[in-house]
Amino acid sequence: MNTPQTGILLPPPALARYLAFSLSDKTCIAERLLALVGLADGNNTVVGFGQSLVSELGVNIPGLKRFPLITAPGLGIENAPDAVWIWLRGDDRGEILHRSRKITRALAPAFRLEDCRDAFKYAEGHDLSGFEDGTENPTGGQAISAAIVGADQPGLAGSSFVATQRWQHDFECFEAMSEQAQNHAIGRRQSDNEELEDAPESAHVKRTAQESFSPEAFVLRRSMPWAEGNSGGLMFVAFGASFDAFEAQLRRMVGEEDGIVDALFTFTRPLSGAYYWCPALKDGKLDLSPLGF
Ligand code: HEM
Repeated sequence: MNTPQTGILLPPPALARYLAFSLSDKTCIAERLLALVGLADGNNTVVGFGQSLVSELGVNIPGLKRFPLITAPGLGIENAPDAVWIWLRGDDRGEILHRSRKITRALAPAFRLEDCRDAFKYAEGHDLSGFEDGTENPTGGQAISAAIVGADQPGLAGSSFVATQRWQHDFECFEAMSEQAQNHAIGRRQSDNEELEDAPESAHVKRTAQESFSPEAFVLRRSMPWAEGNSGGLMFVAFGASFDAFEAQLRRMVGEEDGIVDALFTFTRPLSGAYYWCPALKDGKLDLSPLGF
């Protein structure tokens, strides 16, 4: 029986690295993907495949598509390379580096590494703005039904769809906001994570309240902070049984429903986004049969 890549359902690790690859030498795709299967356990190494690879293989993964151009007024967003996405989870930066090198070597020359971002846990799971992230994530069986394709889609059961976005924070702007403005931007009090009933409609948690959508829009967020030099932000990562819940949330965040834009955009913005499909595991290995292998 197929099971999900276990790393998806585990809490975010202490350290991570996100790799995004584009297609390069198309003559050896199959061979290089099989080499990846030998290296990726789905637990410490979570793998996703994007539309550019799936189209090249001439197969169809129902529900997989390119990242849509949904963005707030005045903001552009780039599509990240979407052939292969790898989330390396761990607690030792050196070990992650060497695993990353090994995987990059195994995927070459069919796939070229285009983006490599180190990420980390901040203050037991906070965003770099200081707010706790992940509080309203579903857990247990609800996490599985939110994030993993069920038996109603036999060909894809146990797999998952992941939406990723790299956000960059403007720390100066955030720090210049009053404490109340910061709390109202999120809709929770930073000091104790209490939800604020009197937060404005633009508050992030009011925009994205998962039960408030019809149908309800639950996702399993596994975002982690990133930093380079003195810049930083959030690698937003949300797993879903489809992209529908994420898209509904993002459309409301940018004001498509009611013209109200999420106050998050005051101090942070998405630079890039991509969609991937994460295959299930069969006998502990990535099951590439939906890709025709
Ligand atoms: C820089 C980007 C972002 C930051 C800093 C951020 C931060 C937060 C924080 C602090 C919370 C409250 C605690 C929690 O329940 O986790 C939250 C909730 C949430 N966020 Fe974000 N978020 C970001 C982007 C996004 C995006 C792009 C989406 C989806 C399109 C999203 C979806 C959600 C959802 C679904 C919740 C829970 C809402 C609920 O049901 O109460 N977030 N986020």
